[in-house]
Amino acid sequence: METLIRDRAALILDELPVGETFDWVHEVGINLTSRMLATLFDFPQEERDKLIYWSDTFTDSPIIGGAQFTRDEREKASDDCYDTFARMFTERAKCPVGKNPDLLTMLAQGESTHDILDRPAEFFGTLMLLIVGGNDTTRNSISGGVLGLNQFPAESAKLKADHSLIRNMVPEIIRWQSPVIHIRRTTTQDVELGGKTIKAGEKVVMWYISGNRDESVIDRPDDLIIDRKNPRHHVSFGFGVHRCMGNRLAEMQLRVLWEEIMKRFEHVEVVGPEKRLRSNHIRGITELPVRVHPK
Ligand code: HEM
Repeated sequence: METLIRDRAALILDELPVGETFDWVHEVGINLTSRMLATLFDFPQEERDKLIYWSDTFTDSPIIGGAQFTRDEREKASDDCYDTFARMFTERAKCPVGKNPDLLTMLAQGESTHDILDRPAEFFGTLMLLIVGGNDTTRNSISGGVLGLNQFPAESAKLKADHSLIRNMVPEIIRWQSPVIHIRRTTTQDVELGGKTIKAGEKVVMWYISGNRDESVIDRPDDLIIDRKNPRHHVSFGFGVHRCMGNRLAEMQLRVLWEEIMKRFEHVEVVGPEKRLRSNHIRGITELPVRVHPK
């Protein structure tokens, strides 16, 4: 997987226009994560934009302050996504499993999931989790890193001086960007927390972004510090039984991308205001105008 990510990152970075302003989100963030997501599902690479479109419609809800799409567009996107993956699932259920099966083949042939199509809501929920989980999160960390290094030039200087800091910088970027702002749960029993009783059946919202900026446990939490001690001490991947399944893949994508960036460019300069996603669920950057400065 690392070689595949590195080859793709190299291809994308070598095609970037030098000396011109371009949008980092589309040219790099979406470009890399959509290719990786298509690989994870063995989805046709030439149709990978569909995965991004479906993901954007899933995370676009008036309830959470979004609405870039109409209700009809969102419903049609869900239907198209469901029908496409249901068809592929049925095909994958019949084909022999190779050495590195894709996620859909693993679902279609998995002991506890081969009949998941009989439970449409569960099938679709699992798909959405993988599509959004594997796309929006990593892509916003890819943009968040560039933004952070421009907002904290001393950190950018540290990176230029010592590329071996990349491995430490990646979890710090994921903490600082906090791509998933909150997740909601329902309690199954009465719980005492911080002197408060939460009754069984009550809704609980975990604001990961607040936990990641908690000065009582994180030193200077609003600052991006790429050589921060214990950088993996954050809750961006959640915790407990539902902790992110793709956290290692996400970190690998970011590490490899930054290693390839630092081989080629002196600096990725942000040259205009970023555009942010209107959402209280995904901390998204929809546009980031930049210029790359070659070595
Ligand atoms: C920086 C990148 C990422 C971040 C910040 C992130 C964050 C999260 C968070 C906060 C959760 C929910 C945890 C909870 O419910 O408490 C989660 C779950 C999940 N993530 Fe990620 N994620 C990232 C990348 C990925 C990638 C690349 C994949 C792979 C396709 C992925 C797949 C999943 C899945 C399948 C779950 C559900 C786990 C479960 O419910 O048991 N994530 N992620």
